[in-house]
Amino acid sequence: MAFPKGFVWGAATAAYQIEGAAREDGKGESVWDMMCRRPGAVWNGQTGDVACDHYHRWRADVALMKRMGLRGYRLSISWPRVLPAGVGQVNPKGLAFYDRLVDRLLEAGIEPFVTLFHWDYPHALYCRGGWLNRASADWFAEYAHVVVSKLGDRVRHWMTHNEPQCFVGLGHSEGRHAPGDRLPWAEVLRIAHHALLAHGKGVQAIRAAARAPCRVGFAPVGVVKIPASSAKKDIAAARRDMFAVAAANVWNNTWWMDPVFFGRYPADGLKLFEKDLPPIRPGDMKTIGQPLDFFGANIYSGSLVRAGKGGKAEAVPFKPGHDLTAFKWYVAPESLYWGPKFFQERYKLPVYITENGMSGNDWPALDGRVPDAHRIDFTRRYLLALERAIREGVDVRGYFHWSIMDNFEWAEGFKERFGLVHVDYTTQKRTPKDSAYWYKKVIATNGKSLK
Ligand code: FCB
Repeated sequence: MAFPKGFVWGAATAAYQIEGAAREDGKGESVWDMMCRRPGAVWNGQTGDVACDHYHRWRADVALMKRMGLRGYRLSISWPRVLPAGVGQVNPKGLAFYDRLVDRLLEAGIEPFVTLFHWDYPHALYCRGGWLNRASADWFAEYAHVVVSKLGDRVRHWMTHNEPQCFVGLGHSEGRHAPGDRLPWAEVLRIAHHALLAHGKGVQAIRAAARAPCRVGFAPVGVVKIPASSAKKDIAAARRDMFAVAAANVWNNTWWMDPVFFGRYPADGLKLFEKDLPPIRPGDMKTIGQPLDFFGANIYSGSLVRAGKGGKAEAVPFKPGHDLTAFKWYVAPESLYWGPKFFQERYKLPVYITENGMSGNDWPALDGRVPDAHRIDFTRRYLLALERAIREGVDVRGYFHWSIMDNFEWAEGFKERFGLVHVDYTTQKRTPKDSAYWYKKVIATNGKSLK
């Protein structure tokens, strides 16, 4: 098994999905707190008000992670918990929560990987125009400065945004996620530009405030194209398609990644979106293109592509009956081979898989165990594909399973269970699923038990 020594076997969560304590200890409201009150927005009217109650149970949760042998834990910080109005007055109790959590993780030998923005945008800033307001980039930088000034003596891995495609696209174009807006494309592109600018200014703020050497990256959705066969022309078509902007929607890689890693928008997108482009001021692209230390990608699935007429990329549907998760996402283990491979070819940075996993219909059986054979098989297949990429020379440094525990799955409420640990939301009882014991062994053997 090619997993290098020191490979970070981890798991991930996000603040709003697990913390609860939505109105405690001075926390401000986020756009998700508001979204959850909108009739019909979330499955069965569920909310993240309590979620996994991690805000009160964090000690036990870290102890659970330790028992599993996790080497890394990817968490996010709730912006409005730290800055209730988004900027200005700091909430010391909010900051203290993360301070203690980081200490406890380090004591447990678990490396914290911290994401600054995983979608719970301060409602107060939304009322000031939110991401449509260009000042949002400075607001984010201020927030980054506050957090890193406190935790930056211990946290060595930082990420700015989680999946900008989702909070921009699902949040402001499709309206399915907070803040639930459906804006015209030109405004969506403006929001995207400000989010990218926020990333750049955020990176600058992190580096300025950190009091120990740290590594900085971000964690976009990795939109993966899988060659439909091993023929060279299909591989070439998949690669081209993976780095193309072909439609006026957010579901591509390069509109988000080229500015960040190359300091420029991709030419095909600039042409396609010509009439809707945001104002780009001198210096913006340089700010966005701050040097980074790693490339994080959230990869759950992929789609098949072959070379059609004249080598043109052509989508190939999965066969009827192709494996699906409970969420009805296609199972595509090869995405964890081709994704890291193509991304590293283009962006040339060490890769972390910052999220990967599946939702299942998991419940405790009569004997008390939570059997989740599908998750074990899913993860085994994906990790074997990742191992193949590593064996062929792709520099992959870590893997974060989504998620350590079942949690509030945004618009799906508690319906989708992604955890290695089952959560009973009535009693808050945690029960490690079979996959948790299985993953523990994978970690302990540095992947050898996958064979
Ligand atoms: C990703 C999100 C994460 C979680 C998983 C299932 O898009 O980053 O918060 O919801 O999907």
